Amino acid sequence: MISSPSRPLVGPDPATIAEALSKRILGQDEAIREMAVALSKQLAGLRVGNILMIGSSGTGKTTLMRAVETYLASDPVLKARSTVIRIHANVLGEEAERGRPGEAVLGRLLERAREQLGPSVPVDILLRRAASGIVFVDEVDKIRSHVGGQPNVSGIRAQEALLTLIENEAVPFVLPEWAGGGVATVDSSELLFVCAGAFEGLYDTVFDRVTIGKDRGALRPVTVVEGGKVQEKLVFHLRDWLRNEDLFDYGMSPQFLSRFDAVVLLHDLGEDDLVRIFLETPESAFNQSRSYFESRGIHLAVSPAAVRRVAREAGRQPRLGARALKEVFRRVIRDYEFDPSKLVRDGALLIDLPEVEAVLGKG
Ligand SMILES: Nc1ncnc2c1ncn2[C@@H]1O[C@H](COP(=O)(O)OP(=O)(O)O)[C@@H](O)[C@H]1O
Ligand SMILES: [Mg+2]
Repeated sequence: MISSPSRPLVGPDPATIAEALSKRILGQDEAIREMAVALSKQLAGLRVGNILMIGSSGTGKTTLMRAVETYLASDPVLKARSTVIRIHANVLGEEAERGRPGEAVLGRLLERAREQLGPSVPVDILLRRAASGIVFVDEVDKIRSHVGGQPNVSGIRAQEALLTLIENEAVPFVLPEWAGGGVATVDSSELLFVCAGAFEGLYDTVFDRVTIGKDRGALRPVTVVEGGKVQEKLVFHLRDWLRNEDLFDYGMSPQFLSRFDAVVLLHDLGEDDLVRIFLETPESAFNQSRSYFESRGIHLAVSPAAVRRVAREAGRQPRLGARALKEVFRRVIRDYEFDPSKLVRDGALLIDLPEVEAVLGKG
């Protein structure tokens, strides 16, 4: 049996963790804080509630998970203390179909622990490390229990598989061959699960519920003054109205949901967020392109007006979130990446508003 250490380890505090994460993920302070507190507790060997993140496509769910992985890998002490895996919920669905519920997760954690600690470390130590790891389940909405009115069997099984792992003190686990085979009993109650999904359609469903559905009239128009005119307006934020029942209806089972202490909603990103993401995040379209030009001895710069125009264009595709930045900037920079000569002056390539408008038009 695996027990918690009697004296908590001292780990980084939430503010330190949040600061590190916020270099890679912008405009999601609430989610960052929630994650930072959970990580701080987990790294101190304390019990942590699982987290469910909900946010539209391209708002930073996967980026946040990757930011945590990068953060933990960047520091030798933290690296030695944490085993992290990120798994696509669909994969769990497939594994569940093959009758290996739960093993997909434990097997990967064990594998990861072996990579970290080395192949000569005894299996029971690897198991202990695996059992206090962090499991990111991405695209968790893909394992909803029904799709288009039909039961989604692999989704149902995958939810059940996760249930057997979350807060379970005795999970039977068939060891892989390299670990000697046989069945081990794993206490998985120290695992931290962070699940994320876009839950497409949830926004409309909840909006309908409070406007024309069961709770008709709940969302009341507010009076606003706009341009000197008094108007009645419906202001809807999912976070104000989302209830557990909405998630049950979506296809997440009540038992599954009850294993999450916190449901965190990510914000839809505004134009200002997009500007910052474009300029400041290490893997943004701009910074990737800049590295490319740098490698060819050219310094790339984009004027503020040009950046604003790119962000505005990206903001017109709300279904893509910040992903749209890449697609939009690609169209602008494509020809210059092929042949920058016509715009390079003194080793610098300046993209200004006219260059952007030549591709995207005015607006
Ligand atoms: N809040 C954010 N901060 C920084 N970059 C972001 C943010 N949201 C999205 N991105 C960028 O947009 C792209 C898609 O983001 P991703 O995290 O994969 O979205 P999803 O929420 O669909 O998982 C990535 O290139 C990422 O760098
Ligand atoms: Mg994602």
